[in-house]
Amino acid sequence: MSALVELANVSKTFDVSPPWLNRVIERKPPTYLHAVSDVSFSIARGETLALVGESGCGKSTVARLIVGLYAPSAGSVRVDGQDMAVAVKGNDEAARALRRKVQMIFQDPYASLNPRWRVADIVAEPIRTHKLITDRAALDKRVAELLGFVKLTAKDGEKYPHQFSGGQRQRISIARALASNPEFLICDEPTSALDVSVQAQVLNLMKDLQREMGLTYLFISHNLQVVHHIADRVGVMYLGRLVELGDKRAVFGDPQHPYTRMLLDAIPDLQMTGKARTPVAGEVPNPLNPPSGCAFNPRCPKRFAPCDRERPELATFKGRDVACFAARNPI
Ligand SMILES: Nc1ncnc2c1ncn2[C@@H]1O[C@H](COP(=O)(O)OP(=O)(O)OP(=O)(O)O)[C@@H](O)[C@H]1O
Ligand SMILES: [Mg+2]
Repeated sequence: MSALVELANVSKTFDVSPPWLNRVIERKPPTYLHAVSDVSFSIARGETLALVGESGCGKSTVARLIVGLYAPSAGSVRVDGQDMAVAVKGNDEAARALRRKVQMIFQDPYASLNPRWRVADIVAEPIRTHKLITDRAALDKRVAELLGFVKLTAKDGEKYPHQFSGGQRQRISIARALASNPEFLICDEPTSALDVSVQAQVLNLMKDLQREMGLTYLFISHNLQVVHHIADRVGVMYLGRLVELGDKRAVFGDPQHPYTRMLLDAIPDLQMTGKARTPVAGEVPNPLNPPSGCAFNPRCPKRFAPCDRERPELATFKGRDVACFAARNPI
């Protein structure tokens, strides 16, 4: 299978310096925050890759880099072989086609759906923007079809977003995302604002749509049970870097990075073996002043000599990629 999405050594740095004048008076250098550092992965067509990790580890920044909302500070993002940073600026046919192919679904469907628009107009907007259908009757038919995909009716299109429940609103935003015939959907915490039972319905709907339409997903969540349900492969991020990346079964079934293990130990047991939960210990370090060596070392139960001096590279081990000295040199 060929990769639809390819990230090669992508980094994103934010300048978070105090205002220039304060800096000059206080003689301080500029301050940079490394939100994403040297991240590489690919997503095959039809596959779901999930990114997990604690708040602030860079998941949403990766999502924004992929859709082209941010330009990478280093490295490249390619979708279908085309550079995303070029495509977001371009106005030629290929650039427009690429923008149409990549769509994003956000966590809070209420904030991302215009409350003054009828649902039918919300769903029709991408079709109008990309000039996919211009005939009125054909447009109405297509909107009804899209609402049907997400188990809503054409009549629902006459209503406004506030007349729907949270789960229905999330389905409306899925219908809108599908309106431009995308191939790749980036879902940033799409169900985390929903009740557990509604979450499951939306996830199952997304899985069905993926199968029927051959969609490719990047799925971002801090909920490992959701990720276990939806993902084929999983990437675990810590302080802007991937620390473990591989097949869901390998990463969840036999985690090699101590951080992955810590996240997994904190959730109710997926295999129901009766194992007790252990809360995640310690705190994420300040990203403006990250620890030297492996960024996880201050919290790591397995740290040893090299860990606070050298940074482990991601390398293949036991059928997945892992960046950890202890995993590769068990003591
Ligand atoms: N526009 C920005 N300017 C400055 N810093 C930013 C900006 N966007 C993100 N950051 C910082 O980059 C880091 C990564 O943020 P990001 O939102 O990608 O994390 P996340 O993994 O999505 O977290 P969450 O789970 O809370 O959504 C954080 O330290 C954040 O404060
Ligand atoms: Mg986020």
